[in-house]
Amino acid sequence: MNKSKWGLGLLLMSCFLSSDIVLADHFNGHVDVTVKALSTNAQKGQLAFNRTCGACHGENGEGTLKGPPLIHGIYNAGHHSNKSFYSAVRNGVQQHHWPYGDMPAQQGVGFSEMSAIVQFVREVQQQNGIVQKKHRM
Ligand code: HEC
Repeated sequence: MNKSKWGLGLLLMSCFLSSDIVLADHFNGHVDVTVKALSTNAQKGQLAFNRTCGACHGENGEGTLKGPPLIHGIYNAGHHSNKSFYSAVRNGVQQHHWPYGDMPAQQGVGFSEMSAIVQFVREVQQQNGIVQKKHRM
């Protein structure tokens, strides 16, 4: 291979690498989530969550390029109460914590399904060391 081809290859590669890094910095929400044994209600919530919320919040709330992880310190129950979960699903959320855009209201999630989802998120948060903290803002 001659020198200019190498140069082009390097240039292309650095573009790829740097765009990856920018993306990773911009959407640095992804977390590794461990799921251990869950209560029956939380298991129901897991199914509903992965079906309805997983497209954006990731499988088991680990985050995707379309939405933040919910297994994250800022969603501890002191900062985001269970009420804020019901409200997010019923009314949607305006972008404020992250660069992913707004969350649209989620139709078709009933009350009992919603309480199962919240229980699932709280159990998995606890399993991943996220504990309730007093809100200081
Ligand atoms: C189309 C993508 C999308 C779907 C589907 C979605 N969300 Fe969200 N959600 C978001 C985004 C984006 C945010 C972050 C908004 C911000 O803070 O910038 C968010 C934020 C939240 C918040 C934080 C609310 C707050 O007060 O800050 C909760 C709780 C939440 N989502 C729960 C859910 C649940 C539960 C479901 C499924 C029933 C769900 N979301 C489905 C995109 C989505």
